[in-house]
Formats: sequence, structure tokens, C-alpha cells
Amino acid sequence: MKSYAIATIPGDGIGKEVVPAGARVLQTLAHNSGRFRVELEEFGWGGDWYRAHGVMMPPDGLDALRGKDAILFGSAGDPRIPDHITLWGLRLKICQGFDQYANVRPTRILPGIHSPLKRCAAKDLDWVIVRENTEGEYAGVGGRAHQGHAIEVATDVSIMTRAGVQRILRFAFQLARSRPRKQLTVVTKSNAQRHAMVMWDEVALQVSNDFPDVRWDKELVDAMTARMVNRPTSIDTVVATNLHADILSDLAAALAGSLGLAPTGNIDPERRYPSMFEPIHGSAFDIMGKGLANPIGTFWSCVMLLEHLGETDAARTLMAAIESVTADRSLHTGDLGGTATTQQVTDAVIERIQRPAVARAAA
Ligand code: IPM
Ligand code: MG
Repeated sequence: MKSYAIATIPGDGIGKEVVPAGARVLQTLAHNSGRFRVELEEFGWGGDWYRAHGVMMPPDGLDALRGKDAILFGSAGDPRIPDHITLWGLRLKICQGFDQYANVRPTRILPGIHSPLKRCAAKDLDWVIVRENTEGEYAGVGGRAHQGHAIEVATDVSIMTRAGVQRILRFAFQLARSRPRKQLTVVTKSNAQRHAMVMWDEVALQVSNDFPDVRWDKELVDAMTARMVNRPTSIDTVVATNLHADILSDLAAALAGSLGLAPTGNIDPERRYPSMFEPIHGSAFDIMGKGLANPIGTFWSCVMLLEHLGETDAARTLMAAIESVTADRSLHTGDLGGTATTQQVTDAVIERIQRPAVARAAA
């Protein structure tokens, strides 16, 4: 029997509630499949680790993760630690350290979920946003001088390499090709940002030559926000820079009903390193420790994790269980206007996974 080594990193805030829920779901799926096992190892890194050790994760932390088949991550963010420290000390260390250059963010309106967009049915919104995940505005290049003086200067320099742009565009074209509509929108801001963004456009044109079967267009990021709201059906697969896609994906998640549902995968397409899967909602300190967090974003991330491992049957079973649960309003958490708890949603998903396949198909 196959056995997958999976690292879990709950991190901070509600990550500590949703990751254990995800771990339970993965164990149940493995047990039910009779085909594979999951060996989970939890790493207690994050804000608490920082208070105890002065760092978000140990200096050799990447080595502990290197041999894993995948990572399930919760969130990093702590009201008592500056955000740039929690981000750079843990999540970005892993994304950049393991060259997880493709951040994949699917968005759909799940059954039972209402989009704030009027006249937008579930079939009208089925997108995947591909976010460049290792450079651009998140390259970490820049600095400050004259600190505290009136002449203080600070820079955040966005770095775009041709190789980095090429590989993310190639990944996005490939992903677009694998989807029924075979359609890609390349988002930039190449009117105002006249160097790197113009290079994006040039590289997009070059890469598109290898994908004659993919229909593609270009959109400026500001216009893209309006298009997402006004013409959601005109969009399928989207590729954008690290920061642009960060912003677009929050909008996408909100348009699909709630940030609490949205999943993501930080993928190393070359599979040299483990890829990392996480809900995009963040640590949500306002509701932490109350058992109110929506675990669906984590479960959907587990679907992506299973797909990445090639366990497509288990991935399909879990997605069907998620959709059956969201369809039931009594199982909606607070972010969806309901009163269900993390535990109730998790139990319901597990109950559906355990239903015999025939009953599941009919349900
Ligand atoms: C995301 C998040 C992160 C980001 C935050 C937590 C730094 O918003 O994954 O979209 O901006 O990358
Ligand atoms: Mg974000």
C-alpha cells in the first residue's frame, strides 16, 4: 500500500482549528480508500514558536519538510508580532525555499452558497487564478535609509526575471489547456509599469505560440476587477503577478461567497520539493479558539493536495462530500451567515465520506 508523508503546520489563529480538521479528513479518506495511507507529522511553528525561540520556524526547518510528499498549512499571522515577520519567517520561507512558483487558486460557487453578485448563477463563475509565487512584488528586494529622519527613503523593488515569467506563463497556459474552455487571461499593468509588465506581455505572446489550442487575451489589472464583477462568464483561467493575483483572488473568493471556502496550492510543478496547500483566509484572530472557523477552505485545499499526489478518486470523494455539506444551509458557519461550528461541518464531511459509494452517488 502507498504511504504518503504529509507535514501539517497549523500556524496561528484559526489555522490551529482547521488544520486538525483537515488532518482528520485526510485520515478518513486514506482509511476508506484501502489504497493508501497518510503519515502525518505536525510542526508547531508560528507565533507561539516565535515567542519561545525568537524565530517563526527553526533554521533547519526546511530540511525537516524536504522529504515530505506534501504540506498542509493553516495560517501565519499574530496580532502581537508584525505581519512582515510572521509572513517572511514562515510561509514565504517555505514557498520561496521550495521554489513553489505556481500558486493555484480555484474559485467556484459551491452548491448552497450565494454570490453577492446579482444574477450570477453557479455555472457563471468557474475560475482558476494562477499567481506567480516566488518573485515580483514579493521578491523582498529593497531597503530603508535615513531611518527616522525627515529624509527617510524606503523601496520595495519588484523583480521579474524572464525565466520566472516564462515558467509561470507556461504553467498557466498548460492549466488553461487542461480545462474544458481552454481559455486564459493574462493580467498585467503594462500601461503604467513600462518595463517588467511589458516583458510579461512579450513573453505571453511567445509562450502562446506553443499553445495554439488555447484562446487567450490580455487585461489590465484594474479593468480585470471590473470584468470579474460585470462579466464573470467571460473568465476561465487567469494568470497574474504575485501582488496582482493576491488582490484578485480575494475579490474572487468574496464573489464566490466567502473567503472561508477558498483553497490554494503552492506548487512546485517540477516536483523537486513538496508542494504546500492551505486555505487562503488567514489567521482570523477575531474568531480564533471559539470553534467557529469554516474548515471548508482547508478541505478544498486537501482536495488539491490529493490531486497533486495523484489520488484522484479520494479527491473526487472529498469534493463531493464538501458540495453535499455546503448545499445544506444548516451546516453553514458564521462567515456564510449560519451558526454551524467547525466540528459540525467536519463531522458532516466525514460522515459523507464514509457513506458507501452507491449511497454517495445518489445523495
Ligand atoms: C494570501 C495572503 C498572504 C499574501 C498574506 C497572509 C501575506 O493574503 O495568501 O493571499 O499576501 O500572500
Ligand atoms: Mg491574499
